[in-house]
Amino acid sequence: MNYLAEPKQFASWSADAASEIIDRHLSERGPLLEILNDLQRTFGFIHEDAIALVAEELNLSQAEVYGVLTFYKDLRTEPPGTFVLKICKAESCQSVGANQLAEAAQEIFQTKIGSTSQDQSVTLEEVFCLGNCALSPAMMVGEKLLGRMDVERIAKLSDEIKSVTL
Ligand code: FES
Repeated sequence: MNYLAEPKQFASWSADAASEIIDRHLSERGPLLEILNDLQRTFGFIHEDAIALVAEELNLSQAEVYGVLTFYKDLRTEPPGTFVLKICKAESCQSVGANQLAEAAQEIFQTKIGSTSQDQSVTLEEVFCLGNCALSPAMMVGEKLLGRMDVERIAKLSDEIKSVTL
């Protein structure tokens, strides 16, 4: 089985492009979170220079923007690896061993949840319900949803990732 979707390509950081993204949302009500999500969708993470740009445009302090940025686990302040592996830790998945799988994934990919492997191939993240509870334990790699995961399948996923990143 092929576990991988195409790795997501992100734009290189550009303050001009970031300003355009911010401008697009300025007329919305409470646009901060949508701006941060849009910046991440475009660049893969929130560049530190984006914090000042967002703060200035929304008339907020940089600390306020940073507070929101660090509150939401989905938002990143560092570029992700080639593949982002999201491991569901919500109830249904936990009840069938998600915690043990998260441990195994950290060992297999040689990185911690919330971090990127040294070779930049994988970022591990935890999420709380991928809407795939019927196929728990669930994970997501890139945009591809995976169900009924076990250690063996994570190891196969690791082999596939190595085959396209090494
Ligand atoms: S609890 Fe894991 S997919 Fe819903």
